[in-house]
Amino acid sequence: MEVIIRPDAEKTAQLAATFIARKIKEKQKIVLGLATGRTMERIYAILVQMHKNEGLDFSGCHSFNLDEYIGLSAEDPNSYRSYMDYHLFRHVNIDLKNTHVPNGMAQDVHSEGKRYEEEIRKVGGIDLQLLGIGETGHIGFNEPLSALMSRTRDKSLTPHTRRQNAEMFGGDPEKVPSRAMTMGVGTILEARSILLVALGESKASILAKAVEGPITSMISASALQLHSACRILVDEAAASQL
Ligand code: GLP
Repeated sequence: MEVIIRPDAEKTAQLAATFIARKIKEKQKIVLGLATGRTMERIYAILVQMHKNEGLDFSGCHSFNLDEYIGLSAEDPNSYRSYMDYHLFRHVNIDLKNTHVPNGMAQDVHSEGKRYEEEIRKVGGIDLQLLGIGETGHIGFNEPLSALMSRTRDKSLTPHTRRQNAEMFGGDPEKVPSRAMTMGVGTILEARSILLVALGESKASILAKAVEGPITSMISASALQLHSACRILVDEAAASQL
């Protein structure tokens, strides 16, 4: 695990975007694992600028998002598919048929999990997995007590996570779906490289536990200690308890 600390949120986002852009340029066909959340918004905005100003080429990119709320259709403005369209996909030259987000409306969540894993396998696995971290220590939506070997499946969200994400649902945690489809911790660990980004003081305590504490299914992000090519990129506020 390599921890990189930048002075503020903007410099952290700039460096994250630079890492991602470098990966995109490295390979003709690249498979990206993508994340959502407020932390990612500025990173995607910088990547869009790089596409517009420097011609950063997304035509060889395949993408797999970590997760999706169960019960929200792709068209729902709060779905993660909408988030990705809004912040990234519609502004760059990625082929939409190469973009994947779990289907939150799947009738059979077990089959949907298997289908998603199969899609990842078909393109040869994920080259770079981008991650944020939730205040419960989740990566994707792997809430506490997610098995470290878990695969893409449905998961209940904790009240804490529903409160944390309520801002996007008009501030009402009750409006945040109670379940989500998420790649498993085991799925995430199979990515060839990982970049986790955390910003702000609210992430400081959980980040310190994930990076310096014992590996435990109570904090899914702690499993990243097992990965041989994992970078943790944080601002000074998020690093304040390391
Ligand atoms: C959601 C996502 C996570 C993300 C987390 C942090 O719960 N499922 O993938 O890491 O939010 O979000 P934020 O960046 O808004 O703090």
